[in-house]
Amino acid sequence: MRAAVITQPGGPDVLSVQMRPLPPLTDNHVLVRVIASALNRADLVQRAGHYPAPPGAPPDIPGLEFAGEIAALGPGVSGWSLGDRVFGLVPGGAHAEYLATHADTIARVPDALSFDDAGALPEACITAHDALRQAAFVAGETVLIHAVGSGVGLAAVQIVRALGGIPYGTARSERKLDAARAWGLEDGVVPVMTEAKLPQFAAEIMQCTTGRGVDVILDLVGGAYVGEGVRALAPRGRLILIGLLAGRDTTVDLSRVLSRRLSVRGTVLRAREVAERIAFTQAFAEEIVPLLADGRVKPVIERSYSLEEIAEAHAMLGGNDVIGKVAVRIGL
Ligand SMILES: NC(=O)c1ccc[n+]([C@@H]2O[C@H](COP(=O)([O-])OP(=O)(O)OC[C@H]3O[C@@H](n4cnc5c(N)ncnc54)[C@H](OP(=O)(O)O)[C@@H]3O)[C@@H](O)[C@H]2O)c1
Repeated sequence: MRAAVITQPGGPDVLSVQMRPLPPLTDNHVLVRVIASALNRADLVQRAGHYPAPPGAPPDIPGLEFAGEIAALGPGVSGWSLGDRVFGLVPGGAHAEYLATHADTIARVPDALSFDDAGALPEACITAHDALRQAAFVAGETVLIHAVGSGVGLAAVQIVRALGGIPYGTARSERKLDAARAWGLEDGVVPVMTEAKLPQFAAEIMQCTTGRGVDVILDLVGGAYVGEGVRALAPRGRLILIGLLAGRDTTVDLSRVLSRRLSVRGTVLRAREVAERIAFTQAFAEEIVPLLADGRVKPVIERSYSLEEIAEAHAMLGGNDVIGKVAVRIGL
């Protein structure tokens, strides 16, 4: 099979398309012929040598999400047939023509979705949905989403709306906030940076929410956004830390955490054991796939590349100008 391969740690030019053997098919696994996928930040960080694949995933073939057809069934698989249209997440190896994955970690692609659309949905939707579940989000609550123009950000805006919440966002340009408004964003803030390079957005978020603050923050940025986010939370607010684009360090006003009874919690999907992967896939199939089927949540794809153009695709996502997803077409 053809696969995108990280030949050594480095920039986009270390990627090449090579021939690799098909992945082995073990008990309870299916072989999927991958037709479409998309890029994620993690692919870029892995390529740069800072995010090795977890045990069991191909060490040098990136790719966390896929849509395709079932090409073979391993021993013990029931409920799936050859040719079924499926999508889901893997801890690596999706930027190849075939992958093997546990049969309970795939979901059926609704008829209304093309493979190209379906391949750009699982990571963004599952990350946002799983984080909202961890935050115990309920309809009527307000949710602040950082890097709201990102792949995960725009999925989160639509999911929060579809589930009856009110999404707010931050982005470093008005252009991305405007794009997010078109997908349902209630209001947004471009953080002002202080001389010490600390982002300021809490005062504006307080104004937007008539002084109460937001119930939930989906923090895709990390660093000093966390400390400032704590100032933007309502009593009993929950901040879910999802990404570290702005770094690992921050200063948090603990008196505010204490007196407002706030929670700060981190999350990661990629490293989870198979039982948890099954659980988040089933929650996605039950609660999000129906929203995809009837168009209440849609993919936002800025541009699609072929597998041979994988280096250009990485360079584009790394440029931070993308609104939504960069997709990768892998098979026919
Ligand atoms: N924990 C998990 O399991 C999990 C799963 C999926 C994704 N993630 C994380 O979620 C985040 C979003 O992922 P994605 O694939 O949707 O990203 P993406 O589409 O690549 O977008 C990331 C956006 O973040 C903003 N950004 C970059 N550097 C920044 C900085 N220093 N300060 C503030 N904003 C910055 C940029 O938008 P602006 O122009 O608005 O600044 C950029 O376009 C990433 O951190 C990723 O690692 C985590």
